[in-house]
Amino acid sequence: MTDGPIALFDSGFGGLTVARAVIDLLPHEEIVYLGDTGRYPYGPRRLDEVREFALQIADELLRVHGAKVLVVACNTAAAAALTDLQERYDIPVVGVIEPGVRSMAAATRNGRVGVIGTVGTIESGAYQRAVADAAPDVELCALSCPGFVEFVERGEFDSHQVHVLAERLLAPALDAGIDTLLLGCTHYPYLARTIGDVMGRDVVLVSSADETAFEVRRILEADGLARPAGLPDPEPTFLTTGDVDWFQLLGSQLLGPELERAEQVKLS
Ligand code: DGL
Repeated sequence: MTDGPIALFDSGFGGLTVARAVIDLLPHEEIVYLGDTGRYPYGPRRLDEVREFALQIADELLRVHGAKVLVVACNTAAAAALTDLQERYDIPVVGVIEPGVRSMAAATRNGRVGVIGTVGTIESGAYQRAVADAAPDVELCALSCPGFVEFVERGEFDSHQVHVLAERLLAPALDAGIDTLLLGCTHYPYLARTIGDVMGRDVVLVSSADETAFEVRRILEADGLARPAGLPDPEPTFLTTGDVDWFQLLGSQLLGPELERAEQVKLS
């Protein structure tokens, strides 16, 4: 099954940070991306509801689009459903939480780190468990940042309002003396300038995008799933459950020229 696409999904635009990394690392692979902008944000919802959304989207990406690898490019959905998805399908299913924790553990020098995410992600305890497993010596400050996702979805990245919100939400991370902050929501790299201004230049910001793309490449190689050489350049597919014009407009600004066109998808 080397000719199917790598499928990625998120509640909206956030997973495009991961899609960008996958396209850059694996330009010869076909990708299909689904942004559930019609139902974002996932962060304030109950985890069992997010789990239902994740299963519905994954069914669509496998059944209609024939995905060969599924990337849950949304921390909230990964916290809610990664294990269920891995058990339900016989293709590799990759999340963003473990790759992010690996990057964070490699980056810290003083052993004090922070992770920021949606309320759903932070309250699920998924990061707390992943850090305890992969980097037990690290001291973790986990904070939720309600409101950040909505700013990104509106295309507002460094306004006065988002700056004021960031100062308030990130204050405990500054007080904790962390030297590394993991952006545990795939939307947050789009707020990196604001978050970086608030945290100061001594704090390294880490995202899971690159490490997740490396994980996908490792799986393709290990499982013999890489798209054969010599085929024509693949066309990426972008799907949204929300407004197509807005998805194309903001999506092309965020991802780049590959997102020239998006299609509406109705999930059943
Ligand atoms: N990008 C999603 C994540 O990583 C945002 C979830 C939301 O829609 O609140 O958690």
